[in-house]
Amino acid sequence: MNQDLRIFINKIEEKFPETVEYFEDEISAKYEITAVLKELEKKGSPLVIFKNIKNYKMPVISNVLASRQRIAMSLGLDNEREFLELYSKYIGRRIEPEIVKNGIFETNYYDEKTVDLTKTLPIITHFNCDGGPYITAGVVIARDPDSGIHTCGLHRLQLKERNKLGISLHSRKRMWEFHRRAEEKGKSLPAAIAIGVHPIVTIGSLAFLPYNDSKYDLIGGLLGEPLQVVKCKNIDVLVPAWTEIIIEGEILNEVREPEGPFSEFTNYVTGRSTRNVFKVKALHHRDNALYHSINPALSADHNTIMAFHRECDIFSTLLRTVPNVKAIHVPISGCGIFTCYISIKKTAEGEPLQAIFTTLAEDHCIKAVVVVDDDIDIFDEQEVLWAISTRVQGDKDIIITPQNMGMGDMLDPSTDELYRSSKIGIDATKPLSGFPQKVEVDDRIRKRILPIVQKIYGQQQ
Ligand SMILES: Cc1cc2nc3c(=O)[nH]c(=O)nc-3n(C[C@H](O)[C@H](O)[C@H](O)COP(=O)(O)O)c2cc1C
Repeated sequence: MNQDLRIFINKIEEKFPETVEYFEDEISAKYEITAVLKELEKKGSPLVIFKNIKNYKMPVISNVLASRQRIAMSLGLDNEREFLELYSKYIGRRIEPEIVKNGIFETNYYDEKTVDLTKTLPIITHFNCDGGPYITAGVVIARDPDSGIHTCGLHRLQLKERNKLGISLHSRKRMWEFHRRAEEKGKSLPAAIAIGVHPIVTIGSLAFLPYNDSKYDLIGGLLGEPLQVVKCKNIDVLVPAWTEIIIEGEILNEVREPEGPFSEFTNYVTGRSTRNVFKVKALHHRDNALYHSINPALSADHNTIMAFHRECDIFSTLLRTVPNVKAIHVPISGCGIFTCYISIKKTAEGEPLQAIFTTLAEDHCIKAVVVVDDDIDIFDEQEVLWAISTRVQGDKDIIITPQNMGMGDMLDPSTDELYRSSKIGIDATKPLSGFPQKVEVDDRIRKRILPIVQKIYGQQQ
């Protein structure tokens, strides 16, 4: 598979040209790009290339993975429906990276003295409530100070000075832990930022895996071949060779500074942050580099990819505990992370609770799980609410855990000052017997009348 983002964009243009927009007019990186992307959300969030950014040479690309169709395509899947089963298989594969001599980003180089992020990169200021310009599609890469394995993930980066970025590790996963381990040894954590990577690198970077497994091996498994990586010039970190822009530096030891506020995926402005500082040592970029930015706040660009990951993770875990899982939906109404709908063909009473606890254990950010029967389309929230309205009695079908026992998402504004969260599970399934029959048109009759209705009212019936 080609590991170049540009080849992926070409493929989308060939296959789904109606989903790619070129924005030719001059536009400012301050507020205007985000305003355009917000408007385009109403048109299904096409992939947009802004070619003419005021005061900058680099074009900006956004909405790369803002649709399930594009996520499926990047993984080589024709059909979004294949997600759950195939992705669960791919995510278990491990292929070690291949170290190559050169990266495409190596053509232009700025060292510690000459680097100036304020001038070189069109870093976007998204909303007027934000604390400043933010890099939102920076895949931050570092090694575990103990085992040496690589991790990578998306972390928001606030532009502070020509060679300084604020960084928040609020998801409290591996990067947070690796930085903690470095600080325990009295050291900063050497780290690189890759901007403009192949979508599989972005997708793989968001996967959960054991703390001693390399994310590069997992990304290789998703690619079906070794990820090609290059050694950084100034730090002992490997970075994807096919990257548009690489920033080298370190997350400082014992330094905390104000960071934010920022318009987060919850659709609230937040000042919550781990307040870390990234000191820049060098910048490399490809000729005519594409600057990738993910549209922040509650957006298809930010939230779809998180939702997709959780659905696949939960599906593969539930396969081991619940016999007939039909579908999983982590809806955008739950910010693509807090809420999960599960439909099952129930075969024993108690199965829904099994599914609820297994799902809550999957990720500390999940706080509400609703289990419904397989006659409910969980991608239609009206149907989910109907099942809750007609199949649930609050005192026996809802389980609520105490807030002081649960770890929550730091960015959920309803968590307490220690970021703790209560968890809710709703069993909206019918009892196995003795429940009224659902009103439905007989399938044979529907098939017979359908051609007649279509003739009168058109194909959409
Ligand atoms: C668009 C986007 C932005 C994100 N920003 C942050 C962030 O600023 N801080 C953070 O801790 N996690 C953020 N996340 C979640 C992490 O990228 C994710 O938890 C990842 O697995 C962390 O990698 P790690 O295990 O190497 O820490 C973001 C996710 C997405 C999709």
